[in-house]
Amino acid sequence: MEITDQQWKEPDGRQLLACFLHAQDEDRRRLARQLHDTTVQALTALRLKLGLLLDSQLANLESTGEKLLRDSIRLTELCADQIRTLTNMLHSPILDELGLVGALHEHVDFFTRQSGIKVKLELMPGIDRLPAEVELALFRILQECLTNIHRHSGSRTASVRLERNLDEVRLEVRDSGSGMCLAVSEPGSGPGAGKTGIGIASMRQRTSQLGGRLEVSSCPGNTVVRTIIPLETTGNGRNRPTPTC
Ligand SMILES: Nc1ncnc2c1ncn2[C@@H]1O[C@H](COP(=O)(O)OP(=O)(O)OP(=O)(O)O)[C@@H](O)[C@H]1O
Ligand SMILES: [Mg+2]
Repeated sequence: MEITDQQWKEPDGRQLLACFLHAQDEDRRRLARQLHDTTVQALTALRLKLGLLLDSQLANLESTGEKLLRDSIRLTELCADQIRTLTNMLHSPILDELGLVGALHEHVDFFTRQSGIKVKLELMPGIDRLPAEVELALFRILQECLTNIHRHSGSRTASVRLERNLDEVRLEVRDSGSGMCLAVSEPGSGPGAGKTGIGIASMRQRTSQLGGRLEVSSCPGNTVVRTIIPLETTGNGRNRPTPTC
């Protein structure tokens, strides 16, 4: 999907992006569930059968046959692990079950394992469960921020801070890398402004849809992406209209 600068400045362009994000969330959720329910189950069954075959035939097998079978078991486990990782990236089941705090822990650990970037995670007390839309938006924003840090910043460390008071919830993601150019970090910059990419525009869209704001400040050695979402107007979050596409 291509959104030109001009379209982005118009309500239609933002509506288009809102629809795109909504459809993308739904697709990811569906795909993750499908992979989990079909491919992961099939691989688990295959692993079980290979294990049974090995146990029952061990006495009759030549060493080459045993090695082949053990390699096949290892490969099956590897495939299942890779698909589990993929499904978690597509849609975190932990987000649904345990909420944002659990999902942030899990994703930060996963990110550090994959990237080698050390992340300090500060979760202030009393966060509790938030409205579902707020949790999903903050989780996606965290994913995008960390991906950006890995891809663009060159920073070896990052920090994530989440706090909540009666009125609002704040997520702050910071890195000490190269910094981003002004055209990208300025509010109003959409896809096509400055460098390419839909990540920051999507973060802004998700935030503004919930009545909040995204603040990006950046200079070499200190880039901060701060998301602030009000809670008083969000109620339980279940009645918020989804974009009409
Ligand atoms: N933490 C960061 N440090 C340095 N530069 C950054 C950082 N985050 C973003 N940028 C810069 O801002 C640009 C826009 O980021 P954005 O996430 O919108 O797009 P992208 O990452 O290039 O592509 P996409 O997110 O669509 O895959 C990036 O191309 C990069 O130049
Ligand atoms: Mg990006």
